[in-house]
Amino acid sequence: MCNGIMSEKTRPFPTHVGIIMDGNGRWAKAHGVPRVMGHNAGMQAMKKIVIASSNMGIKYLTVYAFSTENWKRSTEEVSGIFNLIVKYVNSELEELDENNVHINIFGEYDMLPKASIDAIDKMVGRLADNDGLVFNIALNYGGRDEILKSVKAIAEKCKSGELNPAELTEDDISAYLYSGSTKFNVPDPDLIIRTSGEERMSNFLTWQAAYSELMFTDTLWPDFSPEEYAEMINAYANRDRRFGGRKE
Ligand code: FPP
Repeated sequence: MCNGIMSEKTRPFPTHVGIIMDGNGRWAKAHGVPRVMGHNAGMQAMKKIVIASSNMGIKYLTVYAFSTENWKRSTEEVSGIFNLIVKYVNSELEELDENNVHINIFGEYDMLPKASIDAIDKMVGRLADNDGLVFNIALNYGGRDEILKSVKAIAEKCKSGELNPAELTEDDISAYLYSGSTKFNVPDPDLIIRTSGEERMSNFLTWQAAYSELMFTDTLWPDFSPEEYAEMINAYANRDRRFGGRKE
């Protein structure tokens, strides 16, 4: 899986990868099983990608697990996804710890069922001192909502005189996002991958994605393998990132 290209230190390698894990529902339909089974298969795929990221030396991975818009889905599906979080913690916590994974939650999760909140708190607490892969789970997350929260926090600081509106910078906005408020100060994603053939951002890392490279695959998320992931990471090395400037 980790082939030659990735070990060449001169090739660009993404520090932070974001993933929009799309296609669980279509996978379930194709297999004639309930949608929740599709999400369960999606969780299995996610487990493998987390460990693959850690093995490849990716420092930050952010996955879109549940958006602020996903509440519109049926109660059965929503509670099915929340139950998966408990299942994930129960089955994966030891391995995550052995792999030195640190976890952040991007989003407010206090309105989830108590069992899910308790599982998340247990997982985040247990892995708090780890400093390997920083795995961010976007849960009840929306990019615009995140920016709004940052702006509100900054407005309060301006009101109290701690910040001067005339001197605000982009870094101030970044600092109050979930990504800027964590122990490891998560940098903007270098690469964002979306599966299932859909090609849109869906409110994912809206501020942070300004200069991200985007990659799309028709593969449905439950079928996304560490091998295809490694191919994309290798393909990233051939992207020409200029951040609005000109090539040397
Ligand atoms: C999008 O597919 C996927 C989701 C809304 C949920 C993703 C959740 C997981 C992979 C499980 C996460 C588990 C943990 C522990 C965080 P879709 O349902 O929109 O697929 P469709 O477009 O084919 O209907």
